[in-house]
Amino acid sequence: MAMANGVESSTQELLDAQAHVWNHVFNYINSMSLKCAIQLGIPDAIHKHGKPMTLSQLADALPINGAKSDGLRRLMRILVHSKFFNKVNTTSSPEAVDVEAYSLTRASRLLLKDEPQSIVPHARAMLDPILMDPWHHLSEWFGNELATPFATKNGREFWEHAAVDKVMNVLFNEAMACDAGFVTSVLTTQCRGVFQDLKLMVDVGGGTGATAKGIAAAFPGLKCIVMDLPHVVAGLEGSENLSYVGGDMFDSIPTADAIFFKWILHDWNDIDCVKILKKCKEAISKSSAGKVIVVEMVMEDEKEEREATETKLFFDLEMMTIVTGKERTEKEWAKLFFAAGFRNYKITPVLGLRSVIELFP
Ligand SMILES: C[S@@+](CC[C@H](N)C(=O)[O-])C[C@H]1O[C@@H](n2cnc3c(N)ncnc32)[C@H](O)[C@@H]1O
Repeated sequence: MAMANGVESSTQELLDAQAHVWNHVFNYINSMSLKCAIQLGIPDAIHKHGKPMTLSQLADALPINGAKSDGLRRLMRILVHSKFFNKVNTTSSPEAVDVEAYSLTRASRLLLKDEPQSIVPHARAMLDPILMDPWHHLSEWFGNELATPFATKNGREFWEHAAVDKVMNVLFNEAMACDAGFVTSVLTTQCRGVFQDLKLMVDVGGGTGATAKGIAAAFPGLKCIVMDLPHVVAGLEGSENLSYVGGDMFDSIPTADAIFFKWILHDWNDIDCVKILKKCKEAISKSSAGKVIVVEMVMEDEKEEREATETKLFFDLEMMTIVTGKERTEKEWAKLFFAAGFRNYKITPVLGLRSVIELFP
């Protein structure tokens, strides 16, 4: 018997506890292995090959030093374990050499650079040092007066930084835009009713307009305005039913039938969210169809799988580390909606980890 915290525990329990700690100490290796696979272009190389690819074929196709193929085998082993690749046997003959080959999984198909639903720009931005370095300042932030670990590291808040760091601005805007394909394909097929009676919609914090473009294309009778900070929409050209406006949503939001927010409210604390939502209420007050449409996560869904819960918890801390936001439970969302003067809301969980939330004045 061994003692841990004064409680007797069996040797096995102690070893399990040690393994658990090690697993969490090294959890970043999953992220870094994934980043490396994207940087080396492993998913694209396998895709281009057109059939399962052996280690030597993969090593030949990648921009790597040939002497590092054992490193590649080990990288692929962890990525097979984390379900980014399948390992398949290409022959039934036991004597054959190099018979094991790698194929793509559903997850690595999302890492193909030229796929319409590629999430490579998102992974690239989230795993860039600019968004990862603040994590080394998390505990320091708990003791200081600053609003975020991002500001603790960089001396200014994320949105101010994006306004002056052109590389980060592009990296981040591309990360956001790549998510639009998913969202619009679901919204415009499974949630058509949400947009049906609308004539004018403002996508507030709509980035470079990828989501609004998808919605505008699916509903030609709906005029969409993409509103974002001036440095985000500078130089962007609209189309017949889509236009851009630079502005600050805390100052004013254009009048419309609907205000659309994707991944905006989770960037902000409760006080700021109520301010933004009050502006929205004013903006839709003249329309009989007036509503606010929010695409966000709802935390603590008892029916969800462990991985989904963990991913939402990751997002929540990302929002705390990079910006001043958070992910919210239904109760927390409802409190904000009612505080801003909305009378009713409807949550439709159609977007995997995210939901469409309609707010009615
Ligand atoms: C997390 S991104 C979401 C972008 C887009 N809605 C999407 O999901 O692809 C947040 C967006 O809010 C914009 N933003 C931040 N502060 C803003 C403000 N005060 N007024 C308008 N937009 C703002 C950012 O520039 C950024 O494009």
